[in-house]
Amino acid sequence: MKTKLEEIRCTAKKLLSEAESIREIEDLRVRFLGKKGELTAILKQMGGLSSEERPVVGQLANEIRGDIEETIESVKKTVTEKELQLKLEAEKLDVTMPGKKHEVGGLHPLNRVLEDMIDIFRSMGFDVVDGPEVETDYYNFEALNVPFDHPARDMQDTFYLADNLLLRTQTSAAQIRVMENRTLPIRIICPGRVFRADEVDATHSPVFHQIEGLVIDKGITMCDLKGTLEQFAREIYGDDTKIKFRPSFFPFTEPSVEVDVSCSECGGKGCRVCKGSGWIEILGAGMVHPKVLKGCGIDPDEYSGFAFGIGLDRLTTTRYKISDIRMLFENDLRFLKQFN
Ligand code: DAH
Repeated sequence: MKTKLEEIRCTAKKLLSEAESIREIEDLRVRFLGKKGELTAILKQMGGLSSEERPVVGQLANEIRGDIEETIESVKKTVTEKELQLKLEAEKLDVTMPGKKHEVGGLHPLNRVLEDMIDIFRSMGFDVVDGPEVETDYYNFEALNVPFDHPARDMQDTFYLADNLLLRTQTSAAQIRVMENRTLPIRIICPGRVFRADEVDATHSPVFHQIEGLVIDKGITMCDLKGTLEQFAREIYGDDTKIKFRPSFFPFTEPSVEVDVSCSECGGKGCRVCKGSGWIEILGAGMVHPKVLKGCGIDPDEYSGFAFGIGLDRLTTTRYKISDIRMLFENDLRFLKQFN
């Protein structure tokens, strides 16, 4: 029996010394020291021993159990350390490795031009305001002196959402809100999207962009309008840009003008961009109609003002020589990436 016990000690210690994981050690513990283990099995046979032999074998068995337990503890320690070492090795992080580059986005060409325009008008003392895209008939038409039978109200031009509710067809709607809510004098621009039921083609889109301008103060004249627009055109297109006022009609201005700038591409000689005329039409403008002022509670005998509405899309396509307005709305990355 003693030999058997020594054999157990020997095998257990040998196997333990070869163990490589905590799991393996645990299996060995169960195999030798567990309730159904090899050592326990030997002890169960002790009943067959003589009374002299029994305590000697019992003592040896206990000593071997202690010995195996000690070995288990020490092997466990080494294995745990080894496992930790391996784990650290596997999870090693090289902080000097170069990072992954994120692709940087860029401004849409419309926003590039818009930001330039905002800079120019801010430097002339204009505030930038925002107006709602969903408007009532009153702000989009009536308050702007667009009579009920005016063709601009035709269902074909305007997207109506309900009887009295529509998608604004012009940023001019914001003029009224500004005059109602701001204290005088007023000097604002209002950039934004406008909507018209147009067929889509190379120069038309049902959604496009305008920048509205409005100045109201005592003693404002057409001269101020011309000076402001001239300054704006020079900063956008260059110092020798000329502007030209052509008489026009808008219900909310009197007198009304359409404004052309000399073609920045050919300098006025005539080319493809200006369709041979030497001029590019960029905006409508005029002196705010006394009826409009009165409707907003401003006394037209005391105050006067000018307004203008610039088409942002046209400005963008001519600046970047974009031949088709649809490119501005399709968000094709191959197109957009050219501007960054
Ligand atoms: N709202 C006009 C349009 O969409 C443009 C315009 C013309 C705006 C004259 C103005 C203005 O403020 O004074 O065609």
